[in-house]
Amino acid sequence: MELDIITTQDGSLSILNKTLNTSYHSKFGAFQESQHIFINHGFEYVMAAFPGERIHVLEVGFGTGLNALLTLQKAIEKNVIVNYTGIEKYPLPADIKDQISYRHLLPEVEKELYSAVNDSLFETEHVVHPNFSLLKKEIDIADFTPEKPIHLVYFDAFGPGITPDMWQPVIFERLYQSMLTGSALVTFCAQGVFKRLLKTTGFTVETLPGAPGKREMTRAIKP
Ligand SMILES: C[S@@+](CC[C@H](N)C(=O)[O-])C[C@H]1O[C@@H](n2cnc3c(N)ncnc32)[C@H](O)[C@@H]1O
Repeated sequence: MELDIITTQDGSLSILNKTLNTSYHSKFGAFQESQHIFINHGFEYVMAAFPGERIHVLEVGFGTGLNALLTLQKAIEKNVIVNYTGIEKYPLPADIKDQISYRHLLPEVEKELYSAVNDSLFETEHVVHPNFSLLKKEIDIADFTPEKPIHLVYFDAFGPGITPDMWQPVIFERLYQSMLTGSALVTFCAQGVFKRLLKTTGFTVETLPGAPGKREMTRAIKP
């Protein structure tokens, strides 16, 4: 894979996968996109739906770790305990991880947590903070079956036109089986065919305003 660092319109960095000609985040703003889709419409929603519960988040497409970092921050702020599992088929090489550093997003006191998120080994659960444990798994989503009941899925794959294998019905059927009643799946994708697939799987589908620069996003709830 040929990778390049790019600057998105809100000033935050992202990665361009030159082999697939696609970026890891919206060109309108990596930070804004993650905050809007995954934190505001995902994590905040699930914290309200499961008050006082330990929240199990599953991220499909761990990439730079930006979503994990923002979730860690929010978990500390709200004093919620999170078990976070990140699935990634192609872990980033160290030189790219070092260049993309989102360390500056953290307050001074929490900066050491950045390395715990980004440099921790795959396949081992790490207690990054009393509010946040992290398990990164190097695996193709097609081969993954969740072990713990899930409260929240961050579905942050490349788009359906780029990696159609990540958007097959069997993937969403398997996720659905592992999700708790009332749990949510959030993603940037709002294509009609995808939302119909979610409905056929059993989800209740909501179309929400998209991150800055994008019209819509999707939140699917397991009824
Ligand atoms: C849109 S990017 C993810 C962005 C990431 N959440 C972030 O904030 O940096 C999509 C991610 O899916 C990963 N990926 C591609 N194919 C995959 C597969 N079959 N299974 C799991 N991950 C895959 C890519 O390597 C990439 O990291």
